[in-house]
Amino acid sequence: MVSVLFVCLGNICRSPTAEGVFRSICQERGLANQVRIDSAGTAGWHAGKSPDGRATLAAANRGVDLSGLRARQVKDTDFYHFDFVIAMDGNNVDDLEALKPVDGRGEIHRLLAFGESDSPLDVPDPYYGGDAGFELVLDLITSASQGFLDHLVATGLIASN
Ligand code: 4NP
Repeated sequence: MVSVLFVCLGNICRSPTAEGVFRSICQERGLANQVRIDSAGTAGWHAGKSPDGRATLAAANRGVDLSGLRARQVKDTDFYHFDFVIAMDGNNVDDLEALKPVDGRGEIHRLLAFGESDSPLDVPDPYYGGDAGFELVLDLITSASQGFLDHLVATGLIASN
C-alpha cells in the first residue's frame, strides 16, 4: 500500500481537487486498492470545512465527487504516516520542508513535476480568481496525476493490473 498526502495552503481548493482526481484516476485504472489518499493544508483557517463550492462544482462537471471531503491542517506526524507528501506550489514545499521531522519518511514533491514537460511547476491558487482558474487547476492536476501514478507504477511501488 502506497500512501499519498496532497497539500496546498487552505485545503479547500487545490489539494482536495488533487485528492479527488487522483482517487478517480486510481479507480479508473483498477489500482485504488493499492493507494491510500488524503489531503491537508499548510494553514488551518478552513479546518473542518467542505471544499470551496467552485472547486466542488468544477470537479463534479468532470465526474469527480469532492463533497465528502473536509479540510484539515497538515501536521508533523503526517511525515511518519505518508510515503509521499505532494505539494501544489513552491510555497507549500518550503512550508513542508520546515515542518518535516528529521526522521520523517514522507517524500516531498511538487505535483506538477510529474506533469507534461511544458507544464508550469506551480498549481496557481484559484481562491481569489474566477471560474477559469478552477478549470486550469483541474487540467494541470489531472495531467500531472496521471504522470505521478505512472511514476508509482514504473518504480514498482504499485503493481499494474
Ligand atoms: P487552496 O486555496 O490553498 O488551493 O485551498 C486557498 C484557499 C483559501 C485561502 C487561500 C488559498 N485563504 O486565504 O483563505
